[in-house]
Amino acid sequence: MSEDWENGGFGFYIHWPFCAAKCPYCDFNSHVRNNIDQKQWLRSYLSEINRVSKNTSNRSLNSVFFGGGTPSLIEPWVISDILNEIQKYWKTKDIFEVTLEANPGSVDAKNFEAYRSAGVNRISMGIQSLNEKDLKALGRTHTVKEALSAFEIAQQIFTAVSFDLIYARQNQNLMKWEKELSKALDLGANHMSLYQLTIEQGTAFGDRYNRGLLKGLPSDDMSAELYDITSNLCEDRGFSAYEVSNYAQKGFESVHNLVYWRYGDYIGIGPGAHGRLTVDGKKYATETFLSPEEWLTRVEHRGSGESCVTELSTEQQAAEMVMMGLRLDEGVNCKRFETLSGSYFSENKLTFLKSMQLIEQKEENVIATLSGRKVLNSVLAELLN
Ligand SMILES: C[S@@+](CC[C@H](N)C(=O)[O-])C[C@H]1O[C@@H](n2cnc3c(N)ncnc32)[C@H](O)[C@@H]1O
Ligand code: SF4
Repeated sequence: MSEDWENGGFGFYIHWPFCAAKCPYCDFNSHVRNNIDQKQWLRSYLSEINRVSKNTSNRSLNSVFFGGGTPSLIEPWVISDILNEIQKYWKTKDIFEVTLEANPGSVDAKNFEAYRSAGVNRISMGIQSLNEKDLKALGRTHTVKEALSAFEIAQQIFTAVSFDLIYARQNQNLMKWEKELSKALDLGANHMSLYQLTIEQGTAFGDRYNRGLLKGLPSDDMSAELYDITSNLCEDRGFSAYEVSNYAQKGFESVHNLVYWRYGDYIGIGPGAHGRLTVDGKKYATETFLSPEEWLTRVEHRGSGESCVTELSTEQQAAEMVMMGLRLDEGVNCKRFETLSGSYFSENKLTFLKSMQLIEQKEENVIATLSGRKVLNSVLAELLN
């Protein structure tokens, strides 16, 4: 059996569902709790690692990703025990990426050193903005100064460091963003995730928006212009836009996220974690219980935090593969699409999308252009229809 699932690789995602405070824009599965028994959480993660090892332990892992929530709230010894356990069941690739998401408000140098000793080799930090007023508007509990100092600590300890910024914020014009992004580029990260603010239903921002109280958001045209200057500025400074919202210096692309976008296999454990796993030639989507308390109870009393396993049809797999692949600058490989779906992209549609300058074709790959990336859903619908 091949180890690199249809050439997409193999990753392991661990969800930590807690944060010190809930940000008003965020609809990630993150919760604020006063008392978290880390020993109890560790026991449950270890039990889940044992459960999911059953079908896949003959493979080699490309990556482990501690996502959240705020995984920098996890005690380093918990991270260490989890990584040791994972390495009991799976071999790891020579390039083995272990990322931990960190919130600048919950960083101390001592923990970062201990994370590195535990096996973490990449930090992804949620800086979000370099503008004090906007950080407050985003409901962040850290200042710009704290974010910069936390990032400096990360840089001293880790070779691979990334940060997240949110743009297309309230009252943000092109000039202000260009200035802020230039400053961010000066920080010397080797990877950046630059997300346009999305107003998610069910969040505090969603409620404010519905009541007409979230003023000054950019129009669609303005958002498109903000996207263009972001990509151009990053390219000028040596960061390739290797994915719609992700920019990296050569060699620092996120191994773990590439597994998702190349439609590889990944295990997901922890509350609300998703997975995609091929077993005996069939690909399954896995889901886990969202509520931290329910997930814990299920793992402790029933031996599994999994809430749902669905076999994906070849059509569903093909759609997912194209949806993910079009986000990448390398695009979707036509051969893989054909193998998976048993059909071809229509020549007429490819010609039409090329004439609209929404895609280009390089060797065996179909790639969304910068214009195509801005209307990805329409490109996808046209290709798959
Ligand atoms: C799990 S969080 C990152 C780690 C950590 N919890 C933090 O906030 O610093 C993942 C990232 O998603 C982005 N994000 C979350 N909600 C968003 C939204 N509504 N619009 C745009 N980006 C968002 C933020 O940049 C955030 O850093
Ligand atoms: S953005 Fe990060 S810190 Fe804020 S609620 Fe979401 S996961 Fe937690």
